[in-house]
Amino acid sequence: MAFSKNFLWGGAVAANQCEGAYLEDGKKLSVPDMLLGGDVNTPRMFLPVTDPDAFYPSHEAIDFYHRYKEDIALMGEMGFKCFRLSINWSRIFPNGDDEMPNEAGLKFYDDVFDECKKYGIEPLVTLCHYEIPWNIVTKYHGFLSRETIDLFVKYAVTCFERYKDKVKYWLTFNEINIPCMGMGNGGMGALYGLGLMEDEDIHAANPVRLSDLKSKPQKIFEALHNEFVASSLAVQKGHEICPDFMIGNMIAHTTLYPLTPNPNDVFACFQEDNFQNNFCGDVQVRGVYPTFAYKFFRDHGIDTSFITEEDKEILKKGTVDYYTFSYYMTNCVAKDGQAEKTAGNMSAGVKNPYLKASDWGWQIDPLGLRYTLNVLHGRYPDIPLMVVENGFGAFDKVEEDGSIHDDYRIDYFREHIRCMGEAIEDGVPLIGYTTWGPIDLVSAGTGQYAKRYGFIYVDRHDDGSGDFSRKRKDSFFWYKKVIESDGEDLE
Ligand code: BG6
Repeated sequence: MAFSKNFLWGGAVAANQCEGAYLEDGKKLSVPDMLLGGDVNTPRMFLPVTDPDAFYPSHEAIDFYHRYKEDIALMGEMGFKCFRLSINWSRIFPNGDDEMPNEAGLKFYDDVFDECKKYGIEPLVTLCHYEIPWNIVTKYHGFLSRETIDLFVKYAVTCFERYKDKVKYWLTFNEINIPCMGMGNGGMGALYGLGLMEDEDIHAANPVRLSDLKSKPQKIFEALHNEFVASSLAVQKGHEICPDFMIGNMIAHTTLYPLTPNPNDVFACFQEDNFQNNFCGDVQVRGVYPTFAYKFFRDHGIDTSFITEEDKEILKKGTVDYYTFSYYMTNCVAKDGQAEKTAGNMSAGVKNPYLKASDWGWQIDPLGLRYTLNVLHGRYPDIPLMVVENGFGAFDKVEEDGSIHDDYRIDYFREHIRCMGEAIEDGVPLIGYTTWGPIDLVSAGTGQYAKRYGFIYVDRHDDGSGDFSRKRKDSFFWYKKVIESDGEDLE
């Protein structure tokens, strides 16, 4: 059997994409609360002030805040061993720099973790899944300020102390490498990942497309460095509070292949892969900046005096216990900029003629997951790996009798799970798998509800209609069987 009995099967969500209740019980605004919905052809827009007439998908999301008991019961019914969720920073410290934490926010997550326990579900908690309090963006320019390091560490320590008896598995920042997508060209990655915007955007008179935000690379890499330091300090503090904690990093891993065997394509791919996929992982797992990062900084005129000797020590001491990543697709890289493009998770890539893609242009490549797991194990041989996001965003149709036949989603998962099993047989120490969006939620990239990932359907739509009721899709029963059989029964 490839999958062990204690393999962590489950699903993953983010607070801002499922909770809603965006100003309830003391919570204040965080980055995603400022974003409107888009679709596959229309980018999400940022509005500097909340417009009462506009529709903000995260404000109600799928109302998990009020329905978590029902939702966790459904996950329990599927046999989940693990539920990855994030704590919304702005529920705990509504402005990010408050003196005292907000008790109502702390209590909410106590209740959620207690509910998980009822079903024997292990929570896996991301401390920051794009949920930087809005006040930190406007007052501190996100992680560009070193003060934000202290604010994050205070928040992390508050969570570690409060939940140390309920939570063992932690992640510091979701997809910390998204500012490196597109070689650090700013935009969505800088805002989501670092809370970083230029003043002219923060105070823009009109809505701004996320893709048009223009943070400067010098600021992006300085802010990213501060985030590495914050993450490493949190790892150290967490281990002091509870030596048994498993604290990991989280990388958006879009595996890259050269489009052709032309050495120009191979080398362009090597460089992009290093920068996009390996740079942040190397800092967080090995505790040092890789040499190729310094070369990149030199080539792009980035002054690296922000990497101080003292910080280097912090990075060395705060390396992670396990490496986690999201895997949705692979893309190609070509030296020639004319090659045909396809869409992707936070960044576009070059189309692979051998792969099919989802309706959003994300290429489907199960074998790429086996390859990625092997490559990552080769790179970081001393720590376990976990796939904490993988899934298929699709349009679902509810039949007249209420059933939802999502065999396309089952096909996607079946092949990816099969390839994970093969990677385990190859010798990869894979400890768990949480699918993205086990329950439909708001898309981070497009803000849509129509891009559905769930085993559980939520009656909520892009025009704001729907009664939030939940329904089991065919994939619900299929995944239950997979978990019951420890990954043996994939039919
Ligand atoms: C990952 C994020 O990048 O991809 C999630 O961690 C996100 O927050 C997921 O939802 C899927 O992307 P999208 O754009 O389809 O929601």
